[in-house]
Amino acid sequence: MDHFLYRDGVLFAEDVPVSEIAAAVGTPFYCYSTATLERHFRLFDEALAPLPHLVCFAMKSNSNQAILKTLAAKGAGMDVVSGGEYARAVAVGVPGERIVFSGVGKTVSEMRAALAGGIRQFNVESEPEMEVLNAVAVSMGLRAPVAIRINPDVDARTHAKIATGKSENKFGIPISRARAVYAQAAALPGLEVVGIDVHIGSQLTELEPFELAYRKVADLTEALRADGHEIRRLDLGGGLGIPYTRSNEAPPLPSDYGDLIKRTVGHLGCEVEIEPGRLISGNAGIMVSAVIYVKRGEGRDFLILDGAMNDLVRPSMYDAHHDIVPVVEPEPGVEPAHFDIVGPVCETGDTFARQRAMPPLAPGDLVAFRSAGAYGAVMSSEYNTRPLIPEVLVKGDHFAVIRPRPTFDEIIARDNIPEWLL
Ligand code: LLP
Repeated sequence: MDHFLYRDGVLFAEDVPVSEIAAAVGTPFYCYSTATLERHFRLFDEALAPLPHLVCFAMKSNSNQAILKTLAAKGAGMDVVSGGEYARAVAVGVPGERIVFSGVGKTVSEMRAALAGGIRQFNVESEPEMEVLNAVAVSMGLRAPVAIRINPDVDARTHAKIATGKSENKFGIPISRARAVYAQAAALPGLEVVGIDVHIGSQLTELEPFELAYRKVADLTEALRADGHEIRRLDLGGGLGIPYTRSNEAPPLPSDYGDLIKRTVGHLGCEVEIEPGRLISGNAGIMVSAVIYVKRGEGRDFLILDGAMNDLVRPSMYDAHHDIVPVVEPEPGVEPAHFDIVGPVCETGDTFARQRAMPPLAPGDLVAFRSAGAYGAVMSSEYNTRPLIPEVLVKGDHFAVIRPRPTFDEIIARDNIPEWLL
């Protein structure tokens, strides 16, 4: 459930008409709903109670500082995957003990910054990383808290580009080697082993792969404890999927997921961490775009929008479906027509949807891409020297621009002309 609903035939973001925001900031833009973000965070938080737990928002899905602050104020920790994300989390006041550092390629400088600033745990993904982290921590006179990410070799049954838990994926240490690697970690003076980390992929729409993975984690917890390790935390992922279409999708609910966690690992007495991104931010955001032209082609018609693949890359990159809805609802009984919905970028891949049924639209009409709050703005680029589009946050009946649209001058001024060209 989100807070982008029609009232009297026009689309609102909470209590603000979307057209009012468009008039103020221009199109295209991203628009997020505070109430939806807070609701989704609460659903996870409640789903894990009464287990001791921390919900760490996966900042990779949306790292605008206003979004982070909204969630941190409700008690969210942060899951970061780069020095930049760590710096953003710190910038909004998230304490180090609520920040988890994930990712397969942490650099020495990222490790150093997180150790100096404070970190809840590093999720370590390989033996070489473990050794480098040990050396960095020792050089700083510290012990780095670590969970080792194990790869459970479970098929998450999601898009191949976002599956992470099969042995052929680059992530984690094979579960078969886990006991040996934990023994190595325990012998390193700069590391403090605190738990186990697992993540099998994103946009999972069934519970079974989670169940398979978490049962393996439960068995491993017992084996590692028998080996003398103090396993006190479990960081559990996979990202629960969201419905990208209103009609026919009903992924499991956070409460079902919470029950599954309690059933599989609840008896171990561990603190549970989860790292949801998409389910918190995905349906809390829309991208609003205007029709530039309606082009009649041979055998198919095109809606050419002012938004493009550089603004929302998911359809081009993953063949992802986003519902695209008119900001002004059609009158009842109006016959839809079929369009290819495209952007102005000079490649055929700049296609959002093929032969999508839409009401008749004219230049200047607004459409909204639903479920665009996760992996939308964060994956955008300035391809074709198209400025990054503004982000707007709505709360009740007011809204604020939380990232402005840069001017052409600002974009162009970032390049340096070497002296031999002057
Ligand atoms: N934790 C780890 C270690 C991850 O790799 C991911 C996602 C998450 C948490 C958050 O997963 P979520 O709850 O958002 O499913 N750009 C792609 C998604 C990439 C996800 C990668 N890892 C997309 O637009 O679908």
